[in-house]
Amino acid sequence: MKMGKRGRACVVVLGDIGRSPRMQYHALSLARQASLQVDIVAYGGSEPHIAVLENQSIHIHKMKQWLTMPPGLKVLKPLILILKPLFQLLVLLWYICFKVPAPDVFIVQNPPSVPTLMAVKWASWLRNSIFIIDWHNFGYTLLALSVGRNSRFVAVYRWFERRYGKMANGSLCVTRAMQHELAENWGIKATVLYDQPPEFFHPTSLEEKHQLFCRLDKQMTQPQDVRDCVNYGALSVGSHNLKETLFTNLVDGHVLLRSNRPALVVSSTSWTPDEDFSILLEAAVMYDRRVAAILNEDDSVKEEIIWNDISAGKRYLYPRLLFIITGKGPEKEKYEKKIRRLKLKRVAFRTMWLTAEDYPLLLGSADLGVCLHTSSSGLDLPMKVVDMFGCGLPVCAVAYSCIKELVNVDKNGLLFSSSSELADELMMMFKGFPDECHALNLLKDGALEAGSSRWSSEWEEHALPLLTKVVSANLR
Ligand SMILES: *[C@@H]1O[C@H](CO)[C@@H](O)[C@H](O)[C@H]1NC(C)=O
Ligand SMILES: *[C@@H]1O[C@H](CO)[C@@H](O)[C@H](O)[C@H]1NC(C)=O
Repeated sequence: MKMGKRGRACVVVLGDIGRSPRMQYHALSLARQASLQVDIVAYGGSEPHIAVLENQSIHIHKMKQWLTMPPGLKVLKPLILILKPLFQLLVLLWYICFKVPAPDVFIVQNPPSVPTLMAVKWASWLRNSIFIIDWHNFGYTLLALSVGRNSRFVAVYRWFERRYGKMANGSLCVTRAMQHELAENWGIKATVLYDQPPEFFHPTSLEEKHQLFCRLDKQMTQPQDVRDCVNYGALSVGSHNLKETLFTNLVDGHVLLRSNRPALVVSSTSWTPDEDFSILLEAAVMYDRRVAAILNEDDSVKEEIIWNDISAGKRYLYPRLLFIITGKGPEKEKYEKKIRRLKLKRVAFRTMWLTAEDYPLLLGSADLGVCLHTSSSGLDLPMKVVDMFGCGLPVCAVAYSCIKELVNVDKNGLLFSSSSELADELMMMFKGFPDECHALNLLKDGALEAGSSRWSSEWEEHALPLLTKVVSANLR
């Protein structure tokens, strides 16, 4: 069955398409499940998933970007706040009104709302297409984070967002809380389409783990002007066919997990001020101190002595923790500096940027995920937690209003509001690791179960009927 008269859809993101997974999944579903030709209009930057790149039905159009201003031009900020959207508007209009073939339907990500919503509204009118908004969050609450809630820009932005938001022929949103807000205060009827992991986020096999750890071995064990519990004594040969990694052993062709491996905790962050990374750092320091106190270790005991024992095979009641922090962003270096100054006995940090293919494997190889996402509107959910569940990884997440639409406390994860609470949770879960940590194992089962629903079925159940309805209405 072909949808619409043109058999085309256009996905619009005023952002880096590689970092807009949900819009990539829309594109994949439009191609696979609605058999449409799909044009993506977005900015470049990071690579999208290979399934998107390779699909013959998906065509990516990368727009020219607004040049970044040198920081010295701060005084021009109000001017730039007006000029930049104007420039973006013209480029965007050029692409969606003329450059891409006329689609049956535009699906646009909100935020950013300015000038995207207006541009897509105009284009849909010009080309007689359906206009659908996918509400990931509110643009005005994000703007309020950078310019302050009482700024006049925020009020104007909200007015604009609401006005053009109401003009769409259909709306999707990410939580019931957001659906409620849109219905009550904006007069917009939206369908909830929860983020669900796509097929490539799945639990990792032992062989996949071993191969991943071989690929990452250099980054994990190579001393980067730090010495810590993880790289102490490690001699990395940087080969892709190691017999032994920090976590795995290859014995007679079989991969085994090492019993004195560190517990692997993964967090992905965009290193922006709205994700307070210091919570995680402080919790790590507390874990280190509290474990030492419980084990009655004298402060004067040198780290090296403990590290020596560990590399000789000694196991303690509490494991070493290796935090792998993935992501790119403005505050990365600041925190890397802070991390280097910490003197920790049992905790180590690595920051990395992984390919879209390795990231799911890492999640599937980890023992716990930590999510520091707090929502500007309180109405959206962290997609990274969805991905973690897809890989069977339980999470500790920052508590806020609607997070319970996703994290089921004591079933598939835990919530925290302070670094001390997070440190308690780490101690509780990792005590007895790796063989006798029942609390962690229970959460793992819960995460597997939570992650078993998939994006394609969610999309088929909620997005496809909406699309079919509005697109066929447009044919009459
Ligand atoms: C690409 O899209 C087609 C539909 O045109 C679909 O049948 C196919 O499964 C997709 N291929 C991949 C690799 O996703
Ligand atoms: C889409 O929305 C526009 C503006 O609200 C409206 O004029 C048009 O009739 C709608 N199209 C369909 C098919 O509902």
